[in-house]
Amino acid sequence: MVNIAILGFGTVGSGVYEVVTKNNEVITRKAGMEINVKYVLDLREFPEHEVNKVLTHNIDDILNDDSVQVVVEVMGGVDVPYQFVKGALEKGKHVVTSNKALVAAKGPELLHIAKQKNVNFLFEASVGGGIPILRSMNRSLTADVILEVMGILNGTTNYILTEMTENDLAFDDVLKTAQELGYAEKDPTADVEGYDACRKIAILSSLAYGKTANFEEILTEGITKITKTDICYAKKCKSVIKLVGVSKNSPEGISAFVAPMLLPKNHPLSNVNGSFNAIFVKGNMVGDLMFYGRGAGSLPTASAVVSDVIAAARHKHLHVDVDWTAEKMEILSNDHMEVKALVRIAGGEAEQKKALALFKNGEIITINEAKDEFAVITGIETEKTLSEKIEQLSKDMEVRNRIRMEASE
Ligand code: HSE
Repeated sequence: MVNIAILGFGTVGSGVYEVVTKNNEVITRKAGMEINVKYVLDLREFPEHEVNKVLTHNIDDILNDDSVQVVVEVMGGVDVPYQFVKGALEKGKHVVTSNKALVAAKGPELLHIAKQKNVNFLFEASVGGGIPILRSMNRSLTADVILEVMGILNGTTNYILTEMTENDLAFDDVLKTAQELGYAEKDPTADVEGYDACRKIAILSSLAYGKTANFEEILTEGITKITKTDICYAKKCKSVIKLVGVSKNSPEGISAFVAPMLLPKNHPLSNVNGSFNAIFVKGNMVGDLMFYGRGAGSLPTASAVVSDVIAAARHKHLHVDVDWTAEKMEILSNDHMEVKALVRIAGGEAEQKKALALFKNGEIITINEAKDEFAVITGIETEKTLSEKIEQLSKDMEVRNRIRMEASE
């Protein structure tokens, strides 16, 4: 038998308890032993729930109990979980977490402690919820040089963009409904500003290339500026707008960003809708791979957490190496990143001429829903020249928005 302690009985923590209880038989078979929830740590009481019997408010009960072999951290935040996780690893306990903020900020340090103590620090659920992407990167895609990772990594924003596209709704209205239905957090900043996806692409990049990607260096734009008019242009271009996290490994170096992008309808990520996530990976030998599934939610995320608990139980006395060192990853300046963009500009023929004089390979498109403006689809530009040209245009006309597109002709 392996005793576990769950830190946090919120959405994911209660899901972990449910998965362990409901799937007890199959989990016991696959782990080769029974998984027993010995403690649940939370500040609250749960008088109506059987978990109350194993509830503690004191982390030391868990850290000082040598019979607890696996600690599951599903609290959220960074500082307190960091102390608890570090404490557990130092006591020789395996740790499983779904906390992407913790992994992105402290991953290499915690992996190092785990290695020293001959235990495992596992975090499958921190990216892509129930999608088994990290184990695939770390254990299966070991024969390849990873050339590219591109993903829809945030369920909340994908739900919002899907609703805006399918039901012709404005960002604020969908966000409000999503909050009422409990899909979006009361404070949605981390999701809608792209911070959540940024941490996830940082973790994926670190695992793909073996060094530590500093998420603070990754260009990050959210979806708060996407309007109904942008969606109309996307439809006119037979494309959809998706918030994507991208990291590319080219001969020049590694580039990474998170931003809304126009993807053509035949792009593998364009049909990933609602709260689903998908991650596209390109290896130099295996070619293109796609991973698709529920990137958020109690049970899908808990499924990934419990699969890590089972892995820890199977390797109770063995540290399994993760190819992620503390060495800093050099991320190329975005100035040199090649992009195309759809640039929306107020005005008519005179402004179109000026815009085309600057974007020489540009193409003008117009939509019936906004007759006082047009858009230029630029040729391939670097981020730097794109910004410079937009700045120049802004001097004598109103540039309303710009949305990146894939830079392939
Ligand atoms: N807020 C995240 C999302 C949850 O919407 O995808 C999973 O990390």
